[in-house]
This record gives sequence, C-alpha cells and structure tokens, in this order.
Amino acid sequence: MKTRNIKDLEGFCGVVLIPVFETHEKNVVPIEFHGVSVSSRVFYGKKDTYYVAEKYDCVHLFIGLGKSIDYKNLKTLMRRIAFKEKALFGKEVALMIPEVFTLQQVEATVSGLCLGTYHLGHFKKKDIHPFAEKGFELALLSKTDFSEVALRAIKIARTQIEILYLVDSPPNVVNPAYLAKWAQDSGNTYGFDTKVLDGPACKIEGLDAFLAVGKGSDKTPQFIIMNYEPSGDLPKVKHIGLVGKGITFDTGGLNIKTAAMVHMKSDMAGGAAVLGAMQLIADLKLPIRVTAIVPCCENAVDNTSFMPSDVIKSYHGATIEIIDTDAEGRLILADGLSYLIKNYKPEIIVDIATLTGSSVGTFGYECGALFTNNTTIEQKLRQSGDEIGERLWPLPLWDAYQPDIESDIADVKNYSGKPVAGAISAAKFLEYFTEKHQAWAHLDIAGVAFGDDEFAKSKHATAYGVHLLTHFIENI
Ligand code: BES
Ligand code: ZN
Ligand code: ZN
Repeated sequence: MKTRNIKDLEGFCGVVLIPVFETHEKNVVPIEFHGVSVSSRVFYGKKDTYYVAEKYDCVHLFIGLGKSIDYKNLKTLMRRIAFKEKALFGKEVALMIPEVFTLQQVEATVSGLCLGTYHLGHFKKKDIHPFAEKGFELALLSKTDFSEVALRAIKIARTQIEILYLVDSPPNVVNPAYLAKWAQDSGNTYGFDTKVLDGPACKIEGLDAFLAVGKGSDKTPQFIIMNYEPSGDLPKVKHIGLVGKGITFDTGGLNIKTAAMVHMKSDMAGGAAVLGAMQLIADLKLPIRVTAIVPCCENAVDNTSFMPSDVIKSYHGATIEIIDTDAEGRLILADGLSYLIKNYKPEIIVDIATLTGSSVGTFGYECGALFTNNTTIEQKLRQSGDEIGERLWPLPLWDAYQPDIESDIADVKNYSGKPVAGAISAAKFLEYFTEKHQAWAHLDIAGVAFGDDEFAKSKHATAYGVHLLTHFIENI
C-alpha cells in the first residue's frame, strides 16, 4: 500500500471512508459530506455504527468512532473495515482525515487499513486484497499533508503482517533454519547485520543450555544474532539489547504437554517480535544501536531429548538442574541473555517470551507481564505500551522468590516444582543470568501473543511486541 494526498474529491470515483466522532442523537444539524446529508436519527457517529450512501459515483462509508477512541480500538476498527468489507473496495479508495485527528490517530487508521489485508489462509487459494495490489494508492483527503505519518503507519503494518505470517505458519515450515534465513534476508533488505550460529558453532561457543533444549529434534538449532547501527555520526546513541524466545514448537519434551499443544507453534512469538522490531527499527532508521538475539530450536520428544533430573551447563558457567523439560524457554533465554551481556554489553536489555501459562492465569489475554527492577525502564515500557495498545502490567522480582530456583545438586533449577507464582519464578531464573544488570526487563507475553478475535475462527497471531519494542526504543 502507498498513499497520496488529495485536497478535494474533484473527479474522484470510488469508495470514500469518512470517520465521524459522535455528535448527538438528537442533533438537528445533519452530518453533511460531499453532498450526502445524514440525519442524526439514522447516524450520529456512535461507536460501531456505519452509514453507507452512494452519490456522484462514490460509495460514502461513514464510520462511527464514538466520543473518543484510543489507538488500538481505532486501528482494530479500520482493520475490520478493510478485512470485512473487502468486496466493497476497488482501485480507488479515499480516506477523509478529520481535522481533529492527531498524528497518532492518522497512524492508527492507516496502519489498521493496511493490516486488514492480512488473511490466515496461507495454504489456500485466495484473492489479493485490493489494498495489497501492486500500485494501490490510498488517497488521503486533507488540507494537511500526512504522507510522512502514513508511510510510517504502512511500515509498522507491513512488518506486523510479516510477523503474523511467521507466527501463524506451521512448525514444519517455520523451523529454526527458516527463521535464520528470514533474519538474513531482512537484514540484507532493511540494513542490519545478521550472524547465525548453527549447532556445531553453538557447541564451540558453549551455549549448552540452549543446545540441551534442541537435542531431541532433528532440526538444527539456530542462534540468531543481529546488529543494527544507525547511519551518520551519532557518537552518543544508546545501545539496546533484545532477546526473544524462538521455540518453533514446544511439545513440552519428555514432560510432554497434555493440553493445548496445538497452539505451541506460537512459542516463537517472542523471537518473532524481536525479528520484527529489528526490521522496523532499521526501516524507520531509528537513531539507536541495537543488538538482538533470537535462539531458535524445537522442544521435541525423542530418545535423544534432555531429561528431567539432567544437570546441564550454560553459557554463563552456572549448572542447571532440569526439573521439567517443558520449562525450556528460560533455558534458551538464559544463554541468550548471558551471550548478549558478555559479548555486547548493552546499556538496556529487554527480553520477550511466551514463557509461562502462569502469566496467562494471572492476566488473561489483556496484557503482558512485566518484570524489572529499573523504574525508568518500567515507566517507559508501560507508557509505550499504553500509547499503542500493547499493554504491560508489573509483577515482582522480590528476593523472597529466590528459593524457588535453588537446587540441591546444581547452581539453579529450572522449575520450583510448585503450582504457584510460575511467571515470577521463571523471571527469577532469568534474572540469575543477567549478572545484576541494572537496566534489564523481562516481558512474559504468553497471554497476548496468540489469541481469539474477529479475524479468524481459530486462535492466531497478534504480532504483539513488534510495535511495543520499537516504540519503547523511540521513547527511551
Ligand atoms: N511455552 C510454554 C508457555 C505457554 C503456555 C505459552 C501457554 C503460551 C501459552 C512454556 O514453555 C511452558 O511450557 N511453561 C510451563 C512451565 C512449567 C512446566 C514450569 C508452564 O507455564 O506451564
Ligand atoms: Zn514449555
Ligand atoms: Zn515454551
């Protein structure tokens, strides 16, 4: 999708989208636009209402926004229109931008329309959405030129669509090698460096906790390392480190899952969010240095799988007692975090992972769980999430939870063995490997990465984290 600016509808012949804030049910003055007059008895901008009228060879779609609307609701509303009214659209589509719209509202609107082109039927024959056709241009009807924010909105949605595609794809397609190639290709296209350590290279490096998880799978683990440097002479820019869980399928291992295994193709959603953020950061040319690590492997069942009660080594040097092979995410993140800290020393670190069912039990599908001891990072992450509708809420990292990861036989254990505070003890485990880093945050996104909504019959990806991480980096 591209956009162009138009000042009026002279000679325009197509669909005109007209977002309208709520006026009043008993307003005596009708809403007037492009020769169409709508009585308030029929439509007055109430949320989730529409009015369609045909005039001058144009289809006018009035869209009720309610009295006010936040970023996420506006984006979802526009996604819904693009997705559900696909048959209405052709080559010519105009979006009237209300004068009261903020830049964020323009961004949410254009991003939402673009996102509406995403369809889950990857393996079906399907028609291309008119907005995704080559050469499609959305006409932005406004006195002001919004082309800059519109381009930014399209970039956000374009990367989100790629990440939706990755997370929704099955594990026999999106395996560790697929993600490694994706990272290489994205780096070449958008301008960041990608280095991938395969199984033997990881062995030489001593990434033993990561390798233990992938042992039971015939798919070679891939440890993806990406580096983005802004162009120009920017000596004082911050250096951010990102780590994302890239388990391309989580069977649970020998502690095999008894419930919801079918959804575990989404266990690389944290890693995919990091891949997407990296692409978007480079696409937006943000003035910041970023090093991102995505350890990718499959947690499979085999006679070569790691076992409960195994004691394994880690890149950090600490030994880990395996209590449960289904608590695999923290093992690969531990090596990802240690590798990042030892070799790249970033000032700020954020890891993101579909880590625990416990975080879903706590927050449901409304927000990610946020763990950090750094109040500035906490405030910036929450603010960034609130602004774009990918919310976070904090949980504690108190010392009182430390005994949950203490082992008799090894330095630490990967599970407390207790059915309580699972998201917290997982975070305490990760904290152990962060070498008391003063600006580390952990996001457990198990509840928000994959879910039910109006855009498909089955649970599917949300691309949670792509925009959040990027926006956090803009805000820091
Ligand atoms: N991938 C799962 C967590 C998960 C659960 C993600 C639900 C998305 C939706 C993780 O690897 C896992 O299995 N965690 C276990 C840990 C337990 C065995 C200590 C859990 O949370 O049950
Ligand atoms: Zn697991
Ligand atoms: Zn997992």
